Amino acid sequence: MEDIHVANAKKNVPKKGFLDIEIDPTIDLFSEIERLKKEKNMLLLAHYYQEPDIQDVADYIGDSLGLAQQAEKTSADIIVFAGVHFMAETAKILNPTKKVLLPDLNAGCSLADSAPAGPFKKFKEQHPDHIVISYVNCSAEIKALSDIIVTSSNAEKIVESVPKDQKIIFAPDKNLGAYLVKKTGRDMVLWNGACMVHEIFSLEKIMKLKTRHPNAKFIAHPECEEAVLRIADYIGSTTGLLKYSQQSDATEFIVATETGILHQMQKASPNKTFIPAPPNNSCACNDCPHMKLNTLEKLYLCMEYETPEITMEEELRKAAQQPIDRMLEISAKYGL
Ligand code: 13P
Ligand code: SF4
Repeated sequence: MEDIHVANAKKNVPKKGFLDIEIDPTIDLFSEIERLKKEKNMLLLAHYYQEPDIQDVADYIGDSLGLAQQAEKTSADIIVFAGVHFMAETAKILNPTKKVLLPDLNAGCSLADSAPAGPFKKFKEQHPDHIVISYVNCSAEIKALSDIIVTSSNAEKIVESVPKDQKIIFAPDKNLGAYLVKKTGRDMVLWNGACMVHEIFSLEKIMKLKTRHPNAKFIAHPECEEAVLRIADYIGSTTGLLKYSQQSDATEFIVATETGILHQMQKASPNKTFIPAPPNNSCACNDCPHMKLNTLEKLYLCMEYETPEITMEEELRKAAQQPIDRMLEISAKYGL
């Protein structure tokens, strides 16, 4: 059966078919995107993993928490989300009356896909006395089955805010889950999911790189495997990694996360050197193939034609909103 979002998007597609439209090569996409933003009162949000051109034209660039917070407070009529599906879906959950656009509806997430709703529901039933804390990288269906949503920048504080005797299921990222167990001392039941990009790093190659760059700081996202995190000088969300690279006295950094973040790191610290952590093969696998489905051309077309749009059943939306609201409330309490 065709995905409901794809089916819906097709209804609005210009006759020629959205992806087949040829863009006049003489137009300046940057100024056209700026024009569309103003004319249509659009807010353009971009995750740090987007290609540099998209980051440069965005109104706000951030990590998953920052983007959700911006989506929650915007007065724009239309939110254009340059990121992946679960991020745009979160923006829609928070803004049921606004149009939320995603340049390429196929921009999914291997981590979100690793937790299908049916098996997860059964898993939850096997642990009836547990609450469910889910990483925001999951579908609206998983959010609806959760008590609190977290992102990589607030997960530790949120897990700690739960009473010590409360049993917890953490989903879907087993690596972030294991990291949180270590940091908080809480014994959580972990769903066995992972991100294809953050599991690709080669410990052996990172060690060799560290030997060649003895003064470099090794910084990593908590979606990386435990063995990689163990040798990190700093572990944090994309925003955390960026801030650390700005504030540190070090001038060289080996960065274990998706390569898109290097654009902002280099912009913020032009005199520092940023080296992407090597994957365990020769391809550029620490580029997220989902994030990189969005291009400047698709972004322009999506703003011009106002499609593809994120839609969802109101009942599902309401159920998924509750745990997101809890996350935003707790984050505000801690000034996150
Ligand atoms: P943050 O945006 O929380 O750093 O997470 C990174 C990620 O994998 C988003 O898909
Ligand atoms: Fe999903 Fe990993 Fe890509 Fe983030 S980097 S969107 S977690 S597949």
